[in-house]
Amino acid sequence: MRTVTLSDIYNHPITQKYVRRSGMAHAISVAYHAFHIGQEYEVNLDWAAKAGFLHDIGHYEWYRDGEWDYQLYQDYDIHPIKGAERAHKLLVRLGEDKQVAKEIAHAILFHTDSALPKGQFEFTPLQKVVHLADEKDKQPGNLHHYRNIDQKKERSLIQELDKKIDEWNDPA
Ligand SMILES: [Fe+2]
Ligand SMILES: [Fe+2]
Repeated sequence: MRTVTLSDIYNHPITQKYVRRSGMAHAISVAYHAFHIGQEYEVNLDWAAKAGFLHDIGHYEWYRDGEWDYQLYQDYDIHPIKGAERAHKLLVRLGEDKQVAKEIAHAILFHTDSALPKGQFEFTPLQKVVHLADEKDKQPGNLHHYRNIDQKKERSLIQELDKKIDEWNDPA
């Protein structure tokens, strides 16, 4: 049995505030992609889906004179760092196993190269999966951050993915 479900995470006010800021539809798509790509990489699909869902929880809002300023974001963004910390705090607060919370936080930290120095790194399979899942959902002009679906649909997609994870966890 899992202690924490995607629905628990979705329902938390912290998720509603910060994941919605960077796009709930994008977060849900990346959770699904991570679940599917995770099967090829034979990673824990519960961790993959959670890391995919929370990967952009660290976004700030970059406004100048009331308008989103993409250059400010490019220059000063630290969303993988902020996100790793925020996701870790949220998961631990919800009762997640601390080792799992650490694996997920690291996958968020490394989902994009903006927090990495130059060079070649050896990523864990889970870290690769979350990066690939995010790349798969990206749209030109960062449109993936602005896509919307209604909240009823969001909730049912989350519940459906929870069911898939439970089936994988405990095949009948
Ligand atoms: Fe990101
Ligand atoms: Fe993303």
